[in-house]
Amino acid sequence: MNSFNINHEIILKCNNIKRSFTIDKKIKLEVLKGISLEVYRGEILVIIGASGAGKSTLLHILGTIDRPDEGTLTIYNTDVFKLKDEEISKFRNRYIGFVFQFHHLLPEFTALENVMIPMIINQNNFYNAKTKSIELLNKVGLEKRINHKPSELSGGEQQRVAVARALANSPELIFADEPSGNLDSVNSEMLHNLIRRLNEEEKQTFVIVTHNQNLMDIAHRVFEIKDGILSAKEKNRNSYNHLQKS
Ligand SMILES: Nc1ncnc2c1ncn2[C@@H]1O[C@H](COP(=O)(O)OP(=O)(O)O)[C@@H](O)[C@H]1O
Ligand SMILES: [Mg+2]
Repeated sequence: MNSFNINHEIILKCNNIKRSFTIDKKIKLEVLKGISLEVYRGEILVIIGASGAGKSTLLHILGTIDRPDEGTLTIYNTDVFKLKDEEISKFRNRYIGFVFQFHHLLPEFTALENVMIPMIINQNNFYNAKTKSIELLNKVGLEKRINHKPSELSGGEQQRVAVARALANSPELIFADEPSGNLDSVNSEMLHNLIRRLNEEEKQTFVIVTHNQNLMDIAHRVFEIKDGILSAKEKNRNSYNHLQKS
C-alpha cells in the first residue's frame, strides 16, 4: 500500500447512506444499509467488494449521479442532496470526474474530441479546450493516437482516453468504477501506475471501486463493502498514523 503523508483534510463526508431497490413491486432489495465514510484530500481510497455488493450503487451516490433514500453527502462543505438536480449537475461538472468500466467513449468522435467535449460543455473556449486536451492525452501516453476513433484503439488505450476525459475539467475528485475491470493484466498495471502518478503529480483525490485486489497496492486506504455495510480493512491502521493532523 502507498504511504500517506498528506494532511488529514476531509473533502467528502457521507453519513448513513441507505439505498434499496424494489423489484416486481414487492421484493425490496436493501443494497446500502447505512454507509458512512470520510475521504481525505489527496488520497487514493479503494472500495472492494464482490460483484453485486453495491459498489456501483455507492459510487454513483458519492459521485452525485444518484440520490440515496436516506443519508447525507457533504462535498467541500456543500450539502449536496439539498441542491436541485440542476445545481447538482453544475456542482458535479465543476468538482468531479468519472471513469467507468466500459469507458462510454463516443464512437463517432476521435480521442481528442472525446476529451474536449466535457470542456466545451463546461463553456471553455474551443482552442483552450483543444490545447488542454492534447496536454492530457500526452500525459496518458496517447500523443500519437489523438485522431483515432475508439474502434481504432485497444481496450487499454480507450481506458486511458477515458481517464484523460475524466481529468478534462481538472476535477479535484475523481471516481472510478472498476477502471481496469475489462483490461488484461499488463494494461491494468499500466492504468494503475497512471492513476498513482496523477495522484502524486496533480494531488487529485481518487475514490475507486473494484473487485480487483491489485488495486489495493496503489491505495492509501482500503474499505470493503459487504452485506450493505462498509468496513475498513486491517491494513489501514498503519496509514492512519500518517494522517493525524500535526
Ligand atoms: N436500478 C436498479 N434496480 C434494481 N436493482 C438494482 C439496480 N441497480 C442495482 N441493483 C441491484 O443492486 C445490487 C448491487 O448492484 P451494484 O451496485 O451494481 O453492485 P456492484 O457494482 O458491486 O457489482 C445488485 O443486486 C443489483 O442487481
Ligand atoms: Mg458495479
